[in-house]
Amino acid sequence: MKFFVDTADIAEIRDLADSGLLDGVTTNPSLIAKSGRQFLDLVAEICDVVNGPVSAEVASTDFETMLQEAQKIAKISHRVAVKVPLTPAGLKVCKIMSSQGTMVNVTLCFSPAQAILAAKAGATFVSPFVGRLDDIGQDGMGLITEICEIYKNYDHFKTEVLVASIRNPIHIVKAARLGAHVVTAPASVLKQLFNHPLTDKGLAQFVADWQKTGQSIL
Ligand code: E4P
Repeated sequence: MKFFVDTADIAEIRDLADSGLLDGVTTNPSLIAKSGRQFLDLVAEICDVVNGPVSAEVASTDFETMLQEAQKIAKISHRVAVKVPLTPAGLKVCKIMSSQGTMVNVTLCFSPAQAILAAKAGATFVSPFVGRLDDIGQDGMGLITEICEIYKNYDHFKTEVLVASIRNPIHIVKAARLGAHVVTAPASVLKQLFNHPLTDKGLAQFVADWQKTGQSIL
């Protein structure tokens, strides 16, 4: 399973990249707005820091402009995965960019039917948003179950399931149990994966007992 961080905060990305656990980055227009940075410069900087796919999203919704944006974004780096919305125009752009060898992340997926369309359009990644479904009282992880089941039925579907809109470590563990290829989560949630009170308690005990030996390993 690959770990992407869902952020446009370069300091956060550098920190996680140093941990050795990071496989890629996802951004979206809301995260870019929050960063206050110039979009194309920031994406280029992220691509220099991370050795993996960096999703950068188009801003337009009509086919012609979206395609021009996608082509400009793709020129930044071979690491860029152009992110397009799950709309007829978005999937047309997906088909073209994929056939030209650019990675494409189809975003804003909320149904298994939409995920089938993304795979047929040759998406590298499809991003089902589990947290936003949970937020409206629907079953986010149920959607991942259905998409993974469908994709496994078709060898020619090469699209990776990129579980997005993750709110907590349980989402990540469930995604792993279902065999989803990638999760993208805020840095705070990825860091929560380390946490267990028995790890803290056990370590404190080992440190205390070691001190009693009066020894030093170095
Ligand atoms: C995915 O690529 C999106 O950027 C993201 O996961 C959306 O998450 P949110 O619902 O927390 O905004």
